[in-house]
Amino acid sequence: MMEREKILVNCALPYANGPLHLGHIAGAYLGADIFVRFNRMMEKEVLFISGSDEYGTPITISAEKNHVTPQEIADKFHNMQIETFNALDINFDKFMRTSDPEHDIDVDEFFLNLLEKNYLVKRYMVSPFCKTLNKFMPDRYIEGTCPYCGYEGARGDQCDNCGRTLDPMELINPVCNLVNETPVFRVTEHFFLTLDSLQKDLSDYIDSKTYWKQNVLKFTQNFINEGLHPRAITRDLDWGVKIPISGYENKKIYVWFEALIGYITGARVYSKEIGKPDYWKSFWMDRSVKSYYFIGKDNIPFHTIIWPSMLLAHGEYNLPYNVPANEYLRFDGEKFSKSRGIGFTADEMLKFVDKNSLRYYMASILPETGDSDFSLHEFQYKVNSELVDKYGNYIYRVESFIEKNGLSPHIPESFDTNDSEILNLIQSKFSAYCEEIENLHIKRGLSIWLELVMAANNYFTEAAPWKLIKVDMDKLNEKLYISLKMGQYLTVMLYPYVPSAAISIMESLGMQLNPEKSTFSKILNDNNFHVNKGNIPFEKIDLTNPNVLDIQLATVVSVENHPSADSLYVIKVKGDKLYTSVSDLKKYYSGEALTGRKVLVLTNLEPAVIRGIKSDCLILSVKNAGSVELPTGSGVDGEPVAAGNYTYNGDGTMTYKEFQKMQFSIACHHLMVKLGENQYPLMLNDVYINLSTEMLDNVVIK
Ligand code: MF3
Ligand code: ZN
Repeated sequence: MMEREKILVNCALPYANGPLHLGHIAGAYLGADIFVRFNRMMEKEVLFISGSDEYGTPITISAEKNHVTPQEIADKFHNMQIETFNALDINFDKFMRTSDPEHDIDVDEFFLNLLEKNYLVKRYMVSPFCKTLNKFMPDRYIEGTCPYCGYEGARGDQCDNCGRTLDPMELINPVCNLVNETPVFRVTEHFFLTLDSLQKDLSDYIDSKTYWKQNVLKFTQNFINEGLHPRAITRDLDWGVKIPISGYENKKIYVWFEALIGYITGARVYSKEIGKPDYWKSFWMDRSVKSYYFIGKDNIPFHTIIWPSMLLAHGEYNLPYNVPANEYLRFDGEKFSKSRGIGFTADEMLKFVDKNSLRYYMASILPETGDSDFSLHEFQYKVNSELVDKYGNYIYRVESFIEKNGLSPHIPESFDTNDSEILNLIQSKFSAYCEEIENLHIKRGLSIWLELVMAANNYFTEAAPWKLIKVDMDKLNEKLYISLKMGQYLTVMLYPYVPSAAISIMESLGMQLNPEKSTFSKILNDNNFHVNKGNIPFEKIDLTNPNVLDIQLATVVSVENHPSADSLYVIKVKGDKLYTSVSDLKKYYSGEALTGRKVLVLTNLEPAVIRGIKSDCLILSVKNAGSVELPTGSGVDGEPVAAGNYTYNGDGTMTYKEFQKMQFSIACHHLMVKLGENQYPLMLNDVYINLSTEMLDNVVIK
């Protein structure tokens, strides 16, 4: 047997400090999984690796905030991310973790290798030091103005606006964000990667990457053209991989040096686990093996400059073949971001839609060539009209006609001209589809699939088998055979995008699709259809379900301090009747400022007792860059408030399920309730509204 071509697919190691949101999924993981499934169907031997990035200051920050150890944070989110990936059918061969002692082995080897060759040198550097806390501060804790683009919220490690990696010293007006004071800069000894000595080799490497995406290539070339300088790869930190030589016990290896090596650890540990300890070497050391890195835009410099430089210095391993970085997914014009509460996490979304629908929609909006927008409205439209109505229904029509009439279509001896043309069309669409995905135009592969879905529907309607069955059984067989053939093509082509659904639809055609063993050519050469119509594994999704929110206009009658909670008010408001809200608005407003004010209140939540006081409404507030504002209106107290298209129907409370669903229903009408950990932002007429309470945990909804 001929040896199969190998490819290595690596996916940015997500930080284990939060749940994955849809921006991550669209940015890196879904596209990678589709690419991997596609390549396996093309008979390639693929190794698919990612893992948890567990060091780094974001995790230390979360740990400090939550009074737990960094490892506890990492454990929690490592496990959660594995579950999320499983729930989405994103199946890595190995999802490693950088806190695995196995990872230390690879990092030590890499570090010592580079040290010995003088690619790592000791130098003194100046680092931000916080006098109040009496320690060196991680770059990330320092914020200030970006010297390149003027962005005011730049962090000491990177500017989120222009994407440049920064040194905290470069920031204009640096401030330590833990204690809000200007840091001093002190001398400290660190190891530096001599990027300058690798500049020539790196340039040559990048020059050969003419096939890279334009944005990735341009960014990288600019970066190199500005000249490469030695970069510190150790830090004054407690949480990180130890430096493998003595005398540096208080320092650790910088996360962006060590995490990248995780790709090697993942491959190596996987090989050990399957009992072939050298398996990974064939992917990393055989020069003909191509490696792909699926990452988000903000990871570009690390994967096109730092990692290739490290690999060049090391010398034994393959450099990235392609780095198809995606742009950002936006939600209502803003980048998805967990920390800023924008958009949805994958788990939140999976409470309302099935994984097949979610993968389908996300694949159709991958931000491959520019930022793209996530919209619930479009989500519902695309899934219902394309996946369910056009494709699902096509399969259903063909299969039920065949079953109902007890037919078993087989390959005819010859095809009429029209059918030969159709077969050619199928072939050419399939080739175009393959070519697009091979070139990492994953979204375009799906649009070709959709074109073929349309063609199939037209074909079946024109063939009118319900007429043929009365007059020409041979013709009928030919038309139904082609209809099934189209169904078969459509289903294998859908497989990389929506694997679970495709597998069960394939079964309804009487064929097995096995993710480990099947290939396009094996399946497509199989003409023995045995239709056994099951249930089409799609349901229409309903993201619109209004009439569940009672928002009304009310006047604040009185504001008192909560007798047993310092940070809370007990606010009485008059709407259609008198309500009480236990509220955290105390942080933002004095009692005087609130009294007499017209506010919007949500009243159909079942009352909750918050520290001994019953709260039966929520006052809506708008988060606006750090301050909190109260949306208001003029009119009589108790007047229902329309939000977008939504008007309250006036009756009843809601079930928990309805409440959960609200975020979607309402978002379609420009109002959204999101179930966060303790925040329930609403979005009213494109403004974010924060259902202002941190105590909602014990709100019980009927
Ligand atoms: N944790 C980083 C992020 O989420 C990505 C690290 S990729 C690695 O942005 F290769 F360095 F691990
Ligand atoms: Zn900038």
